[in-house]
Amino acid sequence: MKVLVTGGSRGLGEHIARAFAARGDEVVVGCRVHEDKARALAEELGGSWVRFDVRDRDAVRQAIEPLDVDVLVNNAGLTHQGFFAMDDGPTWDEVVATNLLGPANCARAVVRGMLARGSGAIVNVGSVVSERTLPGHSAYAAAKSGLTSLTKSLAMELGGRGVRVNAVIPGVLDVGMGQRMPPRLKTRLLEHIPVGRVGTGHEVAAAVLFLTDATYIHGQCLVVDGGLSL
Ligand SMILES: NC(=O)c1ccc[n+]([C@@H]2O[C@H](COP(=O)([O-])OP(=O)(O)OC[C@H]3O[C@@H](n4cnc5c(N)ncnc54)[C@H](OP(=O)(O)O)[C@@H]3O)[C@@H](O)[C@H]2O)c1
Repeated sequence: MKVLVTGGSRGLGEHIARAFAARGDEVVVGCRVHEDKARALAEELGGSWVRFDVRDRDAVRQAIEPLDVDVLVNNAGLTHQGFFAMDDGPTWDEVVATNLLGPANCARAVVRGMLARGSGAIVNVGSVVSERTLPGHSAYAAAKSGLTSLTKSLAMELGGRGVRVNAVIPGVLDVGMGQRMPPRLKTRLLEHIPVGRVGTGHEVAAAVLFLTDATYIHGQCLVVDGGLSL
């Protein structure tokens, strides 16, 4: 299978890209800024890399459509902390554009090819903030909640024509933005994680592969959070 992982050069995306490559899939590593990392990882995995900004619909279409991927993992994301009443800068909009419009742009760029072939899978990477939100994360939570809704809407439209759409909803992880989280916030969140630890990139990557392969699971948002959202 040919698999595109957006934001695949680092953080959670790198774990997902490595997991697909480890079982023999052809991986395309998506990046926006870290071209050097994407190139190095693609070379290591025997795949390829592609650079685009998920927010730019035309750039996404030009970059992705010709790839004819079997699987799209909408992993690229951006978070930002700021209280809504004081937060009227451009970052709020960027967070929504990256986490919601971005996956929609990427899905649109793969879906016609998938429909023409009568097969394909899309796995969106959400966040536990759509299940249990936090103060100071309004843009991220709104966008990720929108992404779970988009997952279900696309599943309704595409399932009858061989294209499955699901989402994985990670909690706090030991990679990427979870690793960079302010220690005080992480300590506070840990108190609410029943399994008593943060998750690993490997554990979420395994869930992404599972959803890709699970031929009768469709329109689902699989929470992988050690119980944080309970
Ligand atoms: N890590 C966690 O604890 C955690 C928890 C819940 C959910 N998630 C979700 O998991 C996904 C990956 O997060 P992460 O922790 O690995 O984040 P990260 O370390 O900050 O990496 C973000 C990735 O997204 C790419 N990206 C960001 N903006 C982009 C844009 N406009 N266009 C194209 N690519 C863009 C980056 O590419 P460049 O490097 O090229 O800039 C990078 O590869 C996100 O959707 C996030 O919301 C993560």
